[in-house]
Amino acid sequence: MKIECKNVWKFFGEAAALNDVNLGIADNEFITLVGASGCGKSTLLRTLAGLETHSRGDVLVDGRPITGPGQDRAMVFQHYSLYPWLRVAENIRFCRQLNAHTAGRSSGDVEAASGRADALLQLMGLTASASAFPNQLSGGMQQRVAIARALMGKPQILLMDEPFGALDAQTREVMHDLILHVHHLERSTIVFVTHDVEEAIYLGHRVVLMAPRPGRIDSIYDVPLPARRQQDMKLAPEFLRLKRQLLDRIRETSGMKTDLEQLQRLSHAADERTSS
Ligand SMILES: Nc1ncnc2c1ncn2[C@@H]1O[C@H](COP(=O)(O)OP(=O)(O)OP(=O)(O)O)[C@@H](O)[C@H]1O
Ligand SMILES: [Mg+2]
Repeated sequence: MKIECKNVWKFFGEAAALNDVNLGIADNEFITLVGASGCGKSTLLRTLAGLETHSRGDVLVDGRPITGPGQDRAMVFQHYSLYPWLRVAENIRFCRQLNAHTAGRSSGDVEAASGRADALLQLMGLTASASAFPNQLSGGMQQRVAIARALMGKPQILLMDEPFGALDAQTREVMHDLILHVHHLERSTIVFVTHDVEEAIYLGHRVVLMAPRPGRIDSIYDVPLPARRQQDMKLAPEFLRLKRQLLDRIRETSGMKTDLEQLQRLSHAADERTSS
């Protein structure tokens, strides 16, 4: 297992944001995390990133406990978090250059990193925008820069928290195929949080559904699609069946279903009153 969570608990005050989470993620696996707001998706991801300390249990990467952030893991957030005063290419190289200085690496290392930065610019379709500033780019382009920057240190694990949440539907589709391509090329392990069930199925090998109050893993679904995804698979019966199943379960676990049923009862009652 690349990542293992064993009986992981996280408390904020009295409330459990993670309630006995158990999850094993294989090397090179693409896991998507869905669930109602507040169910602990970001908390789990931040714990894997080493940005949050858990209260109890074990979080292991390659069998070793996580003690903090590390070069082996990179995170991409919903908001692109680029340095606005640096050009695209500089944004991508920035952290690597810092590392080169602090770790006392040779100029050869910096040159190799520079080659990787160019390759990533090309992979992300950013070559023509290399000298632009972030505010001159669309949201989709900015997120490409953020992904390229995350990939710069060759992380084995990519942690993504609603990375495409702010993008329009068409740009998102392009980004989906791009991230699948990156996953294939870099052979990384990806844990990807989303609110979008369709996105979760299209990208994931497995979809992990979390539930709130307390934050916990409710159920895990194997995605019954071929490894190489194509956009028209979104219309396949097995895709739609899983989508319905996930949506129903999210509604059930979030309390939204009862709210909707109550709303329906109220509007029925109102209809009956007006017709009588
Ligand atoms: N720093 C914090 N201090 C106190 N409570 C927190 C903190 N961070 C998260 N929580 C609480 O932990 C629970 C899980 O939060 P988390 O952000 O992980 O949920 P989420 O599933 O990512 O939600 P969303 O889909 O809205 O992003 C929530 O009840 C939240 O209020
Ligand atoms: Mg979140």
